[in-house]
Amino acid sequence: MAITGILRVGLIQFRVLDFEQSLVHYRDRIGLNEVGKIDEDRIMLKGYDEFDHHSVVLRRADRPGLDFIAFKADSREKVQDVLRRTREEFGYTIEELNDQPGYGTIYLVNVSTGHKVGVYSDVALAEKTPMIHNPHIWDEQPRGFGATHFDHALLYGPNAAETVRWFTDVMGLAITEELQNAERTGNICTWLSASTRGHDVAVLEFPEPGKLHHVSFHLQTWDDVGRAADIMARYGITIDAGPMRHGITRGQTIYFFDPSGNRNETFAGGYEFFPDNPRRYWDAERAGEGVFYYNKALNSTFLSVYS
Ligand SMILES: [Fe+2]
Repeated sequence: MAITGILRVGLIQFRVLDFEQSLVHYRDRIGLNEVGKIDEDRIMLKGYDEFDHHSVVLRRADRPGLDFIAFKADSREKVQDVLRRTREEFGYTIEELNDQPGYGTIYLVNVSTGHKVGVYSDVALAEKTPMIHNPHIWDEQPRGFGATHFDHALLYGPNAAETVRWFTDVMGLAITEELQNAERTGNICTWLSASTRGHDVAVLEFPEPGKLHHVSFHLQTWDDVGRAADIMARYGITIDAGPMRHGITRGQTIYFFDPSGNRNETFAGGYEFFPDNPRRYWDAERAGEGVFYYNKALNSTFLSVYS
């Protein structure tokens, strides 16, 4: 196996205010498949092209926002190595989570930005995986936007440089791109990849801890992004920005909101990253172009609306 250690971001749990509207949004519009309930207050979902048991959990609560994101490791040894080095080198507290169906223990690390970032190795395949024997491109025709998988999240929080260092030194992720601050003493935002994706997670320096800027779902083509925009317009989904392209990662994108106020993104295209690629970096005064490549200016909600 050429990709070893941490393989990808594989699971996210975040909060929604209501199940009925959330299911219309995530299942019928974005096109995720409903896997089942965990208890009365959590619903599991997955993209049709994902093999693992589930990748998205919506938890019903009185405010939106992130519970945790979690990364899949290739072995229990890698998980134990991450836990040992996290304790020894960073002193972060670690919680054990044992209530996700299909999953073994997920170890949640409380990183410096105020987020819980999990690591796990044991997870069962979904009941309905992509086909593997003389496989069709999909088994059931995808609904809505036809999102293939949960792709990445952008986290907002303080002490981002330390969390980025934990991601690189302990988890083994690579920095694919960075947006440097005006003084060039650090980064406003850093994009990190565990594999050939442009990023699995991005971390932005922000005063409030534990915040979620967006959860992103992968679409296959620019045409799919356009079709997603048509569906958003037809069904009154609030679009924040786009359709457009990012300069950073080159992803083709729309930012939009779920009915609870969590920002979502569709992400298509973008380059393939290899760990021997030089790191791409952006100047602070080019941030608008990095994020919104076509109109070259951030919109007013980018830094002010999060969950
Ligand atoms: Fe994104």
